[in-house]
Amino acid sequence: MTQTLAILMSGRGSNMAAIADACANAVLDARVTLVISNRPNTAGLSAARQRALQTAVVDHTLFDDRQSFDRALHKTLSAVQPDWIVLAGFMRILTAEFVDLWHGRIINIHPSLLPKYPGLNTHARALAAGDSKAGASVHIVTSELDAGPVIAQVHVPIHPGDTTESLAQRVLDQEHALYIKALQLCIKGLDKPAC
Ligand code: GRF
Repeated sequence: MTQTLAILMSGRGSNMAAIADACANAVLDARVTLVISNRPNTAGLSAARQRALQTAVVDHTLFDDRQSFDRALHKTLSAVQPDWIVLAGFMRILTAEFVDLWHGRIINIHPSLLPKYPGLNTHARALAAGDSKAGASVHIVTSELDAGPVIAQVHVPIHPGDTTESLAQRVLDQEHALYIKALQLCIKGLDKPAC
């Protein structure tokens, strides 16, 4: 049966759009049943609405703490019961309570070659370290930040004269295909122990 995805994002939404288009074009045997943004009025929300996807805003600024925000998120997700929760530029740290409720079914894309550079400013850190390559990783989310089992990675060269912007763009250009490939692995089934 076609599996369902809920995509969580915070801003631009280019990964969300690529995944939604892959579903619409049957490149990915899945259906996006909900797109959630924790910020109102984002480009990502417009892109989701243009694609006639169901959207919801769970605005983190309206909650007193991380736990109450995550409970609202859980309630919104429970209404659609997605097979997979796909974090795509979702700039919130999830509580262990939330991660446990959706154990093994939350996937994230991170713009570094994990386990290198978990957290923020990955491209600046790769440049400052003089690395010759960067990349992106798709991984299962656990309660430890950016530390869950990696499903797939892509390597991207760092060129002399690169800036954080040029490197971020080169990595982003590869992220969309990477995310689709990783979701294919998860959906196809459990041939990866992590999924
Ligand atoms: C991507 O670089 C992703 O790896 C990171 O945040 C960015 C989101 O971009 N987690 P977009 O919103 O999908 O365009």
